[in-house]
Amino acid sequence: MNSSFSGRSIQVVRDFHGDEQWYLYRKTRDLKQALRNGTSTEAFKLNDPDLGMYLFFMEDSTRTKESFRNSGHFHNVKLNDFDAKNSSFQKKESITDTIKMLMGYSSRSIFVVRSRIEGVCRWLEKSMREYAVKIGVNQPSFINAGDGRHEHPTQEFLDQFSFLEQLNWKREHIHLALVGDLFHGRTVHSKVDGLEIFNEVEIDLVAPDELAMPGHYIDLMGDKGFKIRRYETIDEYLSQKKPAPIWYFTRLQLERMGEKLLSKASGLRKAVTFRQEHLEKIDSATRFYHPLPRHSETPTIPTFLDGLPVNRWDEQSVNGYLTRIIELAMVGGKLGGDFRGEYGNHSTVYTDDFIRELPPANSKKPEFKVGIKPVDTGIVIDHIAKDKKPDEIWEYITKIRRALSLNAMGSHGVFPGVKDGLFKGIISLPGCSMPGEKKMKMLSAISPGVTLNVIEDHRVIKKFRLSTPPRVYRLPGLRCKNDACVSNPEYHEPIYADFIRTEENRFACEYCETPHLFSEIWED
Ligand code: NCD
Repeated sequence: MNSSFSGRSIQVVRDFHGDEQWYLYRKTRDLKQALRNGTSTEAFKLNDPDLGMYLFFMEDSTRTKESFRNSGHFHNVKLNDFDAKNSSFQKKESITDTIKMLMGYSSRSIFVVRSRIEGVCRWLEKSMREYAVKIGVNQPSFINAGDGRHEHPTQEFLDQFSFLEQLNWKREHIHLALVGDLFHGRTVHSKVDGLEIFNEVEIDLVAPDELAMPGHYIDLMGDKGFKIRRYETIDEYLSQKKPAPIWYFTRLQLERMGEKLLSKASGLRKAVTFRQEHLEKIDSATRFYHPLPRHSETPTIPTFLDGLPVNRWDEQSVNGYLTRIIELAMVGGKLGGDFRGEYGNHSTVYTDDFIRELPPANSKKPEFKVGIKPVDTGIVIDHIAKDKKPDEIWEYITKIRRALSLNAMGSHGVFPGVKDGLFKGIISLPGCSMPGEKKMKMLSAISPGVTLNVIEDHRVIKKFRLSTPPRVYRLPGLRCKNDACVSNPEYHEPIYADFIRTEENRFACEYCETPHLFSEIWED
């Protein structure tokens, strides 16, 4: 059977629309039931020994890797464990080259990728599309099994499934506490989108300042209408009247901390470690979850809790095996034929409305006199960096000239506007013809707000206003400010920085989703 899920990749939770996530949970429930009842599970099985499945783990893992491995066995596919520690990675081979090679071994492949580098699966999904056509194989699926501090979507799916079980499959409301390292923990970052399957979300963040949830995730939760409360320690949290019935713990991510933070680790851990005396302050129906592992010497959910009803983390990790069977069945094309609902947005269309043609001024007089003589025929770029200080405007002029290779031509300057007196830059290019679409896009990305005038016989015959484009990419000087991003040149992947406008003046990296102001997407 082929389905709308076949060949899809899962880089972030949002790659599956809420309806698709719900489908995944319902199918997992059916599978769990079938396994419990001992009835046939054939309807869930890929049964395709030619499908290449790769466990591509470049960071340590127990549960995620072993549950995917066991899911691969369940499906009877060609299961491979890529040995990153003894591979040509040690000879500095890129991830891109390695994946290309592995893709050639099967007509269909699923790669389960864990890496400290963020945005890898999105990059592979995009870049391997053409290569798959070239070598005549199907577009492979890339499943993110945790990328740095960014996201861990398949963990999120198993967490949501486990919460739904506790809530008897009611989706009206969830009240959840996130406790622990909310700064570095990717599983809690994935909650921002995962919790959207509930109509009403109350979320309590329990973490000392040093481990607090990054601001942009809190903003996103606020935008989605989540009710958010913040506490620094479990003691403080339990001193108020309404602790959540569901607690989700995370360990301190020591491997992602710098030395300064590491020196404070034991105090920070104490703030988010559950103690015996806390027990009497929680309701008996409260349940604890944890993506695990927990530290054997200093666990935030200590072992005295293991045998108590509060322990849901054991069942949660079993659910990881089940949800991952279903995820593989979906992207492998076995399940999905009966899906009814909306699809995730995985092919964004970017419109070009940022280049707007204006009516040229109906004047007989020559409009531009920059330089030694008026422009007779050519181009004038006007309103460069309007409102900015003169020395900043000069920088913009240089940037435009460099990016558009206008080095030797025409003249330029910084002038006060005739009407408002505000400074702006002007570049005049006599003899130059109208730039093509690509150059217009570049110009609008480098200096949004400019106008471009096409002059013939001293008169402006065409005028364009260029505003911020919806996507900025493939330009010199662009760089994501997140050093762990796959687009960081230090990783030497054949990749260019790529930014998507999320709102006016705000851009997210296409790969790791780090938010930027427009001015921040450029190298210093
Ligand atoms: C988590 C991870 O790797 O992000 N573990 C997991 O996948 N089960 C959480 C962690 O490492 O703390």
